[in-house]
Amino acid sequence: MNGDVPVLTIDGPSGVGKGAVSARVAAELGWQVLDSGAVYRAVALAALEQGLGEDQRDALIALSRRLPLSFRPGDDGIDVLLDGRPVGPQLRTEPVSAMASKVAAIPEIRAALLALQRDCRRPPGLVADGRDMGTVVFPDAPVKVFLDASVDERAKRRYKQLKEKGEPVILARLFRDMQERDRRDRERAIAPTVPAEDAEVIDTTHLALDKVVASILERVRSRIRLPSRED
Ligand code: DC
Repeated sequence: MNGDVPVLTIDGPSGVGKGAVSARVAAELGWQVLDSGAVYRAVALAALEQGLGEDQRDALIALSRRLPLSFRPGDDGIDVLLDGRPVGPQLRTEPVSAMASKVAAIPEIRAALLALQRDCRRPPGLVADGRDMGTVVFPDAPVKVFLDASVDERAKRRYKQLKEKGEPVILARLFRDMQERDRRDRERAIAPTVPAEDAEVIDTTHLALDKVVASILERVRSRIRLPSRED
């Protein structure tokens, strides 16, 4: 139904800068953004708030099937609302990150969240940021990229981000947690974090954000006929 709406998928491991790149590219194109990590984080937050543990599989699946999640344009991009309540900052805490990676490994939860994600495909286009955007959620996307960077570089980027927000953080711990989460996300049986066959892999370890954004925009413009400003 909405298959005519162009989608750019941006997949890759945590801390690679997908969020910043997606926001910049979407602003340039005037497209919507789907932060699919926020969807898994919202399940994790709701679960923790209800006192559910990772071993309560059935309750977690039931929760993901009736997740009262919505998005709306906010001051800093998109606000994520859980039951109508903005939860942006709560989604970014370490306990929520750890739980999100666990709920994301449950196949029934991934299936329950598909429709919600595909619903975000709205005109004039969508930038979908995640792990399986190009492989599972939008396999027909006309442009797919996979961003990568060494775990060392990604841990440093995340460290800088958290420091700027004034959050207490220990680099060695961040590095270890990131390695652990990477392993879980890459090795899980369902929708592991791997590039789609038709994705362009961009190693951003030594690339500035501007360069990454420019290279993706060039790719989109060469693949998709975008309306000119006069259209
Ligand atoms: O990108 P992020 O760190 O906000 O993602 C949070 C967790 O959700 C992470 O463990 C990977 C998982 N995730 C996923 O499995 N599939 C996606 N499309 C996006 C995120």
